[in-house]
Amino acid sequence: MARGRAGTAGRPGTTLLPGVPDLRAFPRKRWADMVRAATTELTWDELGYPDAARLPRLRRQLAAYLARGRGARVDPGQLVVCAGRLDAVMRLRRGLRAAGHTHVADEDPGWTQLHLTVAAAGLTPVAIPVDEDGLRVDLLHQATAARAVIVAPAHQFPTGVVLAPARRAELADWAREVDGPVMEDDYDAEFRYDRHPVGALQGVAPDHVALLGSLSKTLSPAVRLGWIAAPERWTAASPRGTPEAPRRPSSTRTPSPASSPPARTTATCGPPACATNAAATTSCANSRPGCPDRPSAGRPPDSTCSCP
Ligand SMILES: Cc1ncc(COP(=O)(O)O)c(C=O)c1O
Repeated sequence: MARGRAGTAGRPGTTLLPGVPDLRAFPRKRWADMVRAATTELTWDELGYPDAARLPRLRRQLAAYLARGRGARVDPGQLVVCAGRLDAVMRLRRGLRAAGHTHVADEDPGWTQLHLTVAAAGLTPVAIPVDEDGLRVDLLHQATAARAVIVAPAHQFPTGVVLAPARRAELADWAREVDGPVMEDDYDAEFRYDRHPVGALQGVAPDHVALLGSLSKTLSPAVRLGWIAAPERWTAASPRGTPEAPRRPSSTRTPSPASSPPARTTATCGPPACATNAAATTSCANSRPGCPDRPSAGRPPDSTCSCP
């Protein structure tokens, strides 16, 4: 992973922190050339306030990329450009609530920020355990209050497992049955070293999947460019022009309802472990705004940041 500044020697070596791409691979020159070209070509209208049909050229490109690279079935008109996964969840919340959703199932263990954002969106997260085949889809049927789920089928975080083919089919069936969305966190889906790429679940059940992706791992998280590919019934209620996240969600946990599976497992790691052992911190939350979601190389342990 990259450290240091471009144009200087920087500090050699890798940190292998989860969730941080190799920033040295960012195509600075190509990116700068593209930005220059795009800025030159922008119409005056495109410099105004973006409307509901914002960024049609970008959406066409994204739809083509998602079809080519992820096997997704996306109409450019259905794409919402956003600032990343957390922003995507905040944008979907209105559509979900309008469709009567009050609970959202999520993976346990999973990405804590996603869990907290669901709660901050006014929806009650329901923890569903993950095993070596990915999300325990069978338990979704028991979590009767949840008719929506957030899952990372291509690369579960933090376990790294891929949702097994039988579970993918079962998940798509469940979504059709409850008529709810699977919010597919397409996390790390582009990277495959030891196995064949897995296509997006969205390509199998486009009417019941909201595909959530971003450039955060393939280019850089600083770009803050993400997308939602979902049926309009879940996106129409969201404003398209203004990012709704990231906002640091409250760290308050909402208890799971009685009908849900066993309580969420929480990693027990204190601040020093958070700063030194990335693996141990993958499901750590922070107790106050300003605490890092993940340990940052070179950052001294912050004793006021805690993990549950
Ligand atoms: C499980 C998971 N999904 C998605 C992301 C990327 O989120 P974003 O698109 O908001 O950058 C991360 C970031 O580390 C993550 O851990």
